[in-house]
Order: sequence, then structure tokens, then C-alpha cells
Amino acid sequence: MRVLGIETSCDETGVAVYCSRQGLLSHALYSQVHMHAEYGGVVPELASRDHVRKVLPLTQEVLDQAGLTVADLDGVAYTRGPGLVGALLVGAAVARSLAYARSLPAVGVHHMEAHLLAPMLESEQPEFPFVALLVSGGHTMLVQVAGVGRYKLLGQSLDDAAGEAFDKTAKLLGLPYPGGPALERAAAGGDPARYRFPRPMTDRPGLDFSFSGLKTFTRNTVQADGGHADAQADIARAFQDAVVDTLAIKCRRALQQTGVRGLVVAGGVGANKALRARLRDVAEAEGARVYYPRLELCTDNGAMVALAGAIRLQAGERLPGNAFDVVARWPLESLRPPGEGTLTERGNESALP
Ligand code: KG4
Ligand code: ZN
Repeated sequence: MRVLGIETSCDETGVAVYCSRQGLLSHALYSQVHMHAEYGGVVPELASRDHVRKVLPLTQEVLDQAGLTVADLDGVAYTRGPGLVGALLVGAAVARSLAYARSLPAVGVHHMEAHLLAPMLESEQPEFPFVALLVSGGHTMLVQVAGVGRYKLLGQSLDDAAGEAFDKTAKLLGLPYPGGPALERAAAGGDPARYRFPRPMTDRPGLDFSFSGLKTFTRNTVQADGGHADAQADIARAFQDAVVDTLAIKCRRALQQTGVRGLVVAGGVGANKALRARLRDVAEAEGARVYYPRLELCTDNGAMVALAGAIRLQAGERLPGNAFDVVARWPLESLRPPGEGTLTERGNESALP
């Protein structure tokens, strides 16, 4: 089954074609980062308008790359949520229209489910059950994954998401948006011994996270020392070490608590090389294996949406009639295994704020 996947939940337009037999056939991405950089963060209305400009050219591009036409597709998937409603609507409307025009089944995909399934686009694939660390701009979660659609939330951030903490800290340090990659580059030249930042919530049991105190700690350090030219890299390093350490401690705890032998790391912060190296060590020490998507599939992309959509379409899920919708909030735990009711009906039960 060949499925077109469309991702427009935030500031990246991603489109891809995934084949359930041959794997990923093509994918293309357009990042709006430079446009939002001027404002220091994503401007939702600008994001929606830019998705409108890019989604059809990218669709043509991935079909050309794969040597296919629309007539070769067997289904269409789009990101239904969580995300920015205006941005999501662009992908949803294009996906639904295309499916309608070609009488194809369409399905709305959960963005975080797509992230956590992304390592399955690689040759080395995790087996169920595994623990997933989902670290993006909007979410920080540890999830026990018994199978597709069988998710148990083990812990989550009580305030800022890990990516958000990277972005806000980078801003405090005067680094460009998006903060994560810029902060990682700055940290590479930093002295790890100069500062030691706290590892929030690691001294008590449990798998929840909190990153807002770390942000305050960074702000105070910047105010005290930030004027010195060499402080920026050292502070970036101390912040990154604290986040990596905190995530690593919780991942080790989650592996020990669940007894599972696989750790999947996905979402934009999963592109951080210090985090990747550290979690590899943690998994090894626990006799477990760690799985990541390749760097470009850690951040938002259409490939993961096409994959998640293909799994659900193959199980017979599809949007009823010609309807489509999007949701800003949508708890991951409310999902069901593929084929057990349509995703849309299930999602609605607890999705609305
Ligand atoms: O998954 P993603 O692309 O979009 C969301 O669904 O949120 O994640 C974006 C987040 C941003 O906060 C960005 O700063 C962070 O991932 N990020 C990184 C790195 N690359 C992206 N954080 C730390 N290190 C990186 N190399
Ligand atoms: Zn994402």
C-alpha cells in the first residue's frame, strides 16, 4: 500500500510517500524557520499561509522523486493533531481533497504517535514492547509502548517541554531561533566544569519532568555572568548537560521500572548529539538497545505521518464520508490499536480542551 503523508502541524511542511512493502519511497521538507526567526518564535498565521504555498509543490516533488503519479497512491494521511489548528487545517484540507478526488481512503494521524513510530522507517527496527522518550518543542513524555496504539504514559513534563526549554534558554543567551540546534553548537565550545546546573526532579521517585526551574537558574546565571564573552558557551554547556543528565536518569529509571529492553528516542530534541550518545550509554548499561530515527526524521517530517497513516489505513481505518477535522490537543493515551474504531471517533472523546 502506497500512502502519501502530509505534516503541517507547526513550522515545517513535510510530505512523503511510504510503501508498506518497500518502505520510504520519497520525502521532502520545507522549513519555515528563517521566516519565524525574525519574531523569535512561530507566528501561527504566517505558518498557515506558508503551508498553503508549499504543500502542493512538495506533493508534486515527492511523487516525481518516487516516479509515481497520484493514480499510484492507495491512501492519504495527514497530521490531525496536536498542533496549531490553522496550520493543521492546511494539510488536512489538501489530504482530504486529494483523497476525495481519487476516491482514496484518508486518515488523520496523531503527531506524537508518528514521532514514536519514526524509528520503524530505519533498517534497524525496535520490537514491541519498548519505552519511548518523546522530546519535542511541545511535549516531553516517557511512554510504555506495548504495540501501535497501546500507550501507557509513564511520565511527562509538568511545565515546559524539553525543546521549549532549549528554545527559551537559547533566547536568554542571545542565540538565534530555533534554539535547540543553536544551543547545541554553542555548547560544543563550552567548559563543562565552569557551572553545574540542577537536575530537576531527579532526587525523588517518579518519571515526571520539570524544566522551568532550570530556565530560571539559567536566567540568573546569565544576569550574573552573561556579560562576559566566554560565558555564553559555558552556560549553554551547563544547561545542555543538565537536560541530558535529567533525561538520561529518567530513561534509566523507566527501563528498570518496566523491565523492557528497547528505548526509542524521537522528537526534535532527539536530534541532539550529546543526548543521543548519553542514552546509548544508558541503554547499554541496562542491557537494552536504543533506537533513533535518522537526524532528519527526528524533527517534524512527512515520512513519519505516511508510515503511521499506512499502519492505520491497512487495518481498515479511514475517515468517515468526506469529513475531516483537526484537533489542537489530543492525549496520546486516548489512541487505540489500529482497526479498533476509527481514529477520528476515538480522538474526539477526550481531545477537546
Ligand atoms: O519535533 P519537533 O521538530 O517539533 C515539534 O513537534 O515540536 O521539535 C522541535 C524542537 C524545538 O524546540 C527545537 O529547538 C528542538 O526540537 N531541537 C533540538 C535540536 N534540534 C531540534 N533541541 C536540542 N538539540 C538539537 N540538536
Ligand atoms: Zn514534532
